[in-house]
Amino acid sequence: MTDYTMLTKQLESLAEDEKGFLPVLSNASALLYEGMERLNWAGFYLMDKGSLLLGPFQGKTACIRIPIGKGVCGTAVDLDETQLVKNVHEFPGHIACDSASNSEIVIPIHRDGKVIGVLDLDSIDLGRFDETDREGLEDFVKKLEEVIDLSGPDFV
Ligand code: SME
Repeated sequence: MTDYTMLTKQLESLAEDEKGFLPVLSNASALLYEGMERLNWAGFYLMDKGSLLLGPFQGKTACIRIPIGKGVCGTAVDLDETQLVKNVHEFPGHIACDSASNSEIVIPIHRDGKVIGVLDLDSIDLGRFDETDREGLEDFVKKLEEVIDLSGPDFV
């Protein structure tokens, strides 16, 4: 069983000194990928010019843009609701970035009441995610929403 309380505490302490979205999301994806069993992808898509753009992640290369309303990620944004999908092959319009994936959970991320992106986790196991994962990951994302600084890096 995943210890979501510990993962959320680790996220909080990782973000203590540096809250920029790139380091926080990069470390958050590593934390989940390492801390959860049976994942083949863990990462973020962020809203950009009206669609979802690939953000920091762990796992194989993935689709770069996802239109709102399309796939599991685009549906989570459209409905502003976590999508817990036990079998992705039964989800209409599922986008198969990795054909090995069989189940998926996607949690919307908010700022000022608006969806600004999603956390996406994939597994090769059917039915990998359940209600406990939904609750734990929604708490993890709430902490993320609290700590993250969305202003960009100062390199240009
Ligand atoms: N399967 C997702 C696309 C993103 S990948 O899983 C990394 C979807 O249907 O939105």
